[in-house]
Amino acid sequence: MLSGGPASVYADGAPRIDPALYDLGVPTLGICYGMQLMALDLGGTVERTGASEFGRTELRATGGALFAGLPEEETVWMSHRDSVTAPPAGATVTAGSPSTPIAAFEEPERGLYGVQFHPEVLHTEHGTELLKNFLYDVAQADATWTPAAVIEEQVERIRVQVGSAKVICGLSGGVDSAVAALLVHKAIGDQLTCVFVDHGLLRKDEAAQVVETFGGHFHVPLVHVDAKQRFLARLEGVTDPEDKRRAVGEEFIRVFEAEATRLGDVRFLVQGTLYSDVIESGGLGGVQAGTAATIKSHHNVGGLPEDMDLDLVEPLRLLFKDEVRRVGEELGLPEGMVWRQPFPGPGLAIRIIGDVTDERLETLREADAILQEEIRRAGLYRDLWQSFAVLPAIRSVGVQGDERTYAYPIVIRAVTSEDAMTADWARLPYDLLETISSRIINEIPAVNRVCLDLSSKPPATIEWE
Ligand code: XMP
Repeated sequence: MLSGGPASVYADGAPRIDPALYDLGVPTLGICYGMQLMALDLGGTVERTGASEFGRTELRATGGALFAGLPEEETVWMSHRDSVTAPPAGATVTAGSPSTPIAAFEEPERGLYGVQFHPEVLHTEHGTELLKNFLYDVAQADATWTPAAVIEEQVERIRVQVGSAKVICGLSGGVDSAVAALLVHKAIGDQLTCVFVDHGLLRKDEAAQVVETFGGHFHVPLVHVDAKQRFLARLEGVTDPEDKRRAVGEEFIRVFEAEATRLGDVRFLVQGTLYSDVIESGGLGGVQAGTAATIKSHHNVGGLPEDMDLDLVEPLRLLFKDEVRRVGEELGLPEGMVWRQPFPGPGLAIRIIGDVTDERLETLREADAILQEEIRRAGLYRDLWQSFAVLPAIRSVGVQGDERTYAYPIVIRAVTSEDAMTADWARLPYDLLETISSRIINEIPAVNRVCLDLSSKPPATIEWE
């Protein structure tokens, strides 16, 4: 498959391939940029027609193997400025949209197929079916991807990579590091030590779940560092969001390094890097390094301290999040961990506006626990990208019993999203909001008001800091 990309085929330095590849008889599917490159290389034409398309587009298919069994009309997702204005010599046009008459072509004899839209994104209604048509019917590939096969393959690779050396892994409570750790443990057993730096900024009962799951259930050698006081001391008086991130990040590395040194003689560090991280950081070691556009730089806590001089073990490097979850389920990881919504490395510190104190953490943690519990009870947890409570730094007047109160509000933030780059506020049912609000106000003395955040991203961000 020749993938999409942000360049124009005419741009300086635009990625090219050796045209001899087209003659190998290997079924080839060009998507967006890949399709345009095929057209250009094989005697068609590509032009800037002035008819750019970004977003949902109505497509009409007129036949072809890729569209077999699909409706004649469907909604697809487009994102392009240039268009193919003549298909490769010998190819047939199989679909078009109002502003892009050549939105797909195929030349079955040579196994060449191209689509201008993106079958791989969710907004393309029948994208998965189209990809299946290409893989199973055109390319005659077998569906051999199973979580069990991934586990078997990775276990073997890990064994070969680390031999008898000692390996260390930082656990965060998130699904990526958990699955990476379990895979490595399956491969090399007690040569692996997991380090769980508990910075005291996790949600209610989360730390206990990590310790119970890894130490208790899976019997993975686990160092649980209770560093709460240390992080709180470091965060004292720190109110700027980026300063908070830096403080937590630096402290995390110090604690982790100290533990690694204590273990002595460690050669490898496990990281839960996913394929999406590999793409987003613009580096595809081994494929064509540096050709993916850099979409965002990573701000994850728990990054590798550069001078630690450890080699990386990255068993999830070829997997997407949904695949990691399936592997996690296969490995027997508890449901709560497999399906945990994303949670930022600096944790509750960036959901408390202003000073992070023990008392304010406790208030937010309790409010957040109520929110999570009710959202799960309503069966909505998996439908939401993230749902959480925020504690602002203002207080307002209320009346409880016969007394005037002057207390904090809690803000409910719940969003839907595919990838956190954009997000919409979730339309939670009124009844659910009412239950959450009255429970939070009744059960938490420091809170006298509950508000709902109705902002999408952009212009707001998902987190408040
Ligand atoms: P924003 O607030 O930028 O968040 O819309 C996008 C996604 O990133 C997560 N996030 C972070 N994750 N460290 C992390 O590991 C951070 O400092 C951080 N800040 C935001 C956020 O939860 C959302 O999923």
